[in-house]
Amino acid sequence: MLYSALSPLLFRLDAERAHEEVSGLLALLACVPGGAAALNALTGPGANGPEKEVLGLRFPNPVGLAAGFDKDGGLVAILPALGFGFLEIGSVTLEPQPGNPKPRLFRVPESRALVNRMGFNSEGARAVARRLASRPKPAVPLGINLGLNKGVEAAKAPAAYARTFRILAEHGDYFVVNVSSPNTPGLRDLQKAGELAAILAAVQEANAAKKPVLLKLAPDLADEDFAAAIEVAETSAQGLVVSNTTVGRDGVDERWRGEAGGLSGAPLKARATELIRRARGLTKLPIVGVGGIETAEDARERLSAGADLVQLYTGLVYGGPAVVKRIARGLAA
Ligand SMILES: Cc1cc2nc3c(=O)[nH]c(=O)nc-3n(C[C@H](O)[C@H](O)[C@H](O)COP(=O)(O)O)c2cc1C
Repeated sequence: MLYSALSPLLFRLDAERAHEEVSGLLALLACVPGGAAALNALTGPGANGPEKEVLGLRFPNPVGLAAGFDKDGGLVAILPALGFGFLEIGSVTLEPQPGNPKPRLFRVPESRALVNRMGFNSEGARAVARRLASRPKPAVPLGINLGLNKGVEAAKAPAAYARTFRILAEHGDYFVVNVSSPNTPGLRDLQKAGELAAILAAVQEANAAKKPVLLKLAPDLADEDFAAAIEVAETSAQGLVVSNTTVGRDGVDERWRGEAGGLSGAPLKARATELIRRARGLTKLPIVGVGGIETAEDARERLSAGADLVQLYTGLVYGGPAVVKRIARGLAA
């Protein structure tokens, strides 16, 4: 109810500004004694399970936060109060970088979608590691999504991902190699089998503690490239995240064709489910299903298609902060 009252005000702000205001409020709540408990109470009863054991980790429920919402890990103390069963922060790049010029995040409310070309705005791995080290570990498993600085040539990508991983390694429960953002020129070419094998090998060489490393794929890969990437993951990763945003514009008005960036939210539903089903047919690796999840029914559909866990970002923007518990309660029932 509170969000229905607040969202018209938030939606009047530029989308990134609204995100900053919400993040600021969450950060404030994290500092105030009783803030997390208040947020927990305001967003309704949490789900009692369904607990999951995946990647050698215990998840209190299978509904997680997708990468991109908390890029620098500033909100990991407070976000579990929304009912998330796990969090994924990032993408984090090795060096700090500002990302693309603003505006770079747009709402498409009539399609319950977003278009973003953030371009990996990141405080950089060292700053994120320092922040995570200075705070208690969150109450739920923490994933760290690894990105790549703009302008790093393909030959240097394996070393860059491995260094980013090494700096953050002790702070995450699992890691995601993100080679599927549409907003860093050349990045998605790293999904080709040869490049991918080199990146995953370099990260695993730095992975003394044997933390689970997942590969996040784009929904726009040709069938044979999708299959080839999964074949590489079979031998050098512990799981998949399916999928990132799409460069396609199905399900949104024509005028969005001219706006560069990745499309997320409701228009991604069918494609994301189809890709999970296809991935499940190719591998037994754990799959995190993401893309267009707004309801318990959406989440159940992804789990039935073969996902072990699910995540959302855009659904939170349109559904509000109570949506996570609503989905988890629906799954528990
Ligand atoms: C504003 C925004 C920023 C994002 N940033 C990242 C990112 O840094 N790394 C990443 O792997 N995915 C990123 N994503 C993609 C999401 O993690 C997710 O894969 C995608 O949005 C589909 O899920 P959804 O429909 O629930 O939003 C971002 C998405 C949005 C909307």
